[in-house]
Amino acid sequence: MDAVITLLPDEPYGHVSPRLYGHFAEHLGRCCYDGLWVGRDNVEVEHVDGFRKDVVEALRAMPTPLLRWPGGCYADHYHWRDGIGPERAVRLGLSCGRQVLDDNTLGTHEFLHFCQLIGAEPYLAGNMGSGSVQELCDWVEYCNTKLPTTLGKERAANGHTRPFDVKLWGVGNENWGCGGNYDPESYALEYRRYSMMMQHVDPSIEMVVCGHDRTWNQRCLEKLRGYTGFVDHYSIHRYWIEGGHGTEFSETDYYALLAEAERTEEFIVETRAMIEDVSPKKRIGIALDEWGVWHPEARTWGPGPVAEEIGDYSQAGTMRDALATAVGFEVFHRQCASLSMANLAQIVNVLHAPIMTEGTAFWVTPTYHLLRMHRPHIGAQAYRCEVETTISTPQGAAISATATSGGVTVTNRHLTQAAVVQVPGSYSEAWLLSAEPSAQNSAAHPDNVSPTPLKLSVEGTFELPPHSVATLVR
Ligand code: AHR
Repeated sequence: MDAVITLLPDEPYGHVSPRLYGHFAEHLGRCCYDGLWVGRDNVEVEHVDGFRKDVVEALRAMPTPLLRWPGGCYADHYHWRDGIGPERAVRLGLSCGRQVLDDNTLGTHEFLHFCQLIGAEPYLAGNMGSGSVQELCDWVEYCNTKLPTTLGKERAANGHTRPFDVKLWGVGNENWGCGGNYDPESYALEYRRYSMMMQHVDPSIEMVVCGHDRTWNQRCLEKLRGYTGFVDHYSIHRYWIEGGHGTEFSETDYYALLAEAERTEEFIVETRAMIEDVSPKKRIGIALDEWGVWHPEARTWGPGPVAEEIGDYSQAGTMRDALATAVGFEVFHRQCASLSMANLAQIVNVLHAPIMTEGTAFWVTPTYHLLRMHRPHIGAQAYRCEVETTISTPQGAAISATATSGGVTVTNRHLTQAAVVQVPGSYSEAWLLSAEPSAQNSAAHPDNVSPTPLKLSVEGTFELPPHSVATLVR
């Protein structure tokens, strides 16, 4: 036996909120336009009310409990009135160094309808960078008021009599950078004004503050001391940028990416302590609003060295990225009492996307399969498990696991060594995701990487190939 897992259900971490399996869609590259929205008049791509049918079905099945929109950096240029009613304004779509024509055919009604189609809770990111308090208050009123105000009547005239009842509202995005170059104190002061005014319009909404790194968080949170009644979620972003090119990488790169995914935990723990210091009584959740692998070939803007050409922010999704995702979810489950949401960046075609499209072609990435294998954990109770193993990587134990009332997911991080693993308990089914670390799916080979059923021995043992993940379902 190379690894023995002990389950400790009496040592709970907490509830794995469906919001930890959230996603993020920005008007960037071919994510929202083309990836999700092809328009109601499109005759080439099969669609449901203008949204790609293949994407809608795959997202429902994944599933997609939460979706944040319209940015990202795009949010701080977005004016919601451009995207309602029969006449839509054509604007410059601005995000991450790109300027594209944006015809606003995908607006508030379309996005919220899309959320219904895929079964996602909507999360709207508001514009602080180039907007106003009034503009954001009006968006809340337009979406949520039950009363026949002018905005309420306008919503009804545009086809939605009932309130949309959007609960999650962000006040800006990365306001330390693309969202207006604020310093933390100025942002926090602005936030105090925005959040109070927005909650006057709808006291039931949940508000998200923009966080950043240690220094920003300390200063921003200090300025919010005494005002945390208006804070429900504190947003941080974590992109995993180490580990070389997406499909070409060395052994050192391979392990560097997994290690970086794991280090997300330190940042969550540190941020949690700062939040508790300013808000010892009221629980403020950490919203890991954007997370995922961001390879250099898709980095024309953003963290670290950037590519020379402004591309479309797409990168191949490989088995290694799925392994990093598995490591990430071990962290998210362990930290489920601190995290209130986690949104993968981004949902289709851009960065660490679970779904890719090209014209009429559609395929899912290894990360999609990994997320689908995680379904039993969504809404379950997470608890501690111990792994005793003889196999190690340069960073530590090669075999790691996460356990919930829904099942157990075990990862073999080793690049070359297989492991015989023992897990106690009985399971209704088990699945294995195994492929070369650089393996990917494509339009020509959509099933190159996909899960296969895994057979457990009567003693609960199974072989876990190198760089693979298995989920045992209760
Ligand atoms: O996801 C791409 C960009 O990364 C987002 O627009 C921004 O919030 C972050 O820097």
